[in-house]
Amino acid sequence: MEKFVPVVVIKELSETDKILKALKNNGINTAEITFRTACAAEAISYACKNYPEMSIGAGTVINAEQCKAALDAGAQFIVSPGLSVSVANICKENNIPYYPGCVTPTEIMQALELGITTVKFFPANIYGGLKALKALSAPFPQVKFIPTGGVDRSNIDEFLAFDKVEAIGGSFFVKESLDKMEEENK
Ligand code: 3PG
Repeated sequence: MEKFVPVVVIKELSETDKILKALKNNGINTAEITFRTACAAEAISYACKNYPEMSIGAGTVINAEQCKAALDAGAQFIVSPGLSVSVANICKENNIPYYPGCVTPTEIMQALELGITTVKFFPANIYGGLKALKALSAPFPQVKFIPTGGVDRSNIDEFLAFDKVEAIGGSFFVKESLDKMEEENK
């Protein structure tokens, strides 16, 4: 997994090019396209075909049906806000990395039982931020985290400085990339 994981919401399929071009232009080669909009699967499939150099995954995958649709569309990784055993099993069968949302010791233990050692920590700001990550890392030194939710330029560096942080997720990467491209095209 790359260090930065933009959480992408595509409302219309036609927005896909603009967003992915902006991310690439900002040096980001990953996109977590979320299953929050009707065109998510179509956008993933379009992105995989047209941006083969990027790592395209699916986010907000909350059940087996969405997971299967995401994998059929070509998603290379799956992210959930929480932990779904059925999603974990489908990903394992297909040899696709799965990053479930885990914020409690019980959820982390469940992830470990499923063979998962990198989890999304969401919403990072609400569940105690870096302080919570450090406390959780004491009993779970083998676990890496992807803090997401409320992370932005104001706090990204403190998360990045912690060695248990595998990557950072957030929608702010998209906004920042679009703003940068707009500024450059002025
Ligand atoms: C997610 O699904 O990961 C979050 O909606 C991202 O949260 P953010 O918008 O605060 O980055």
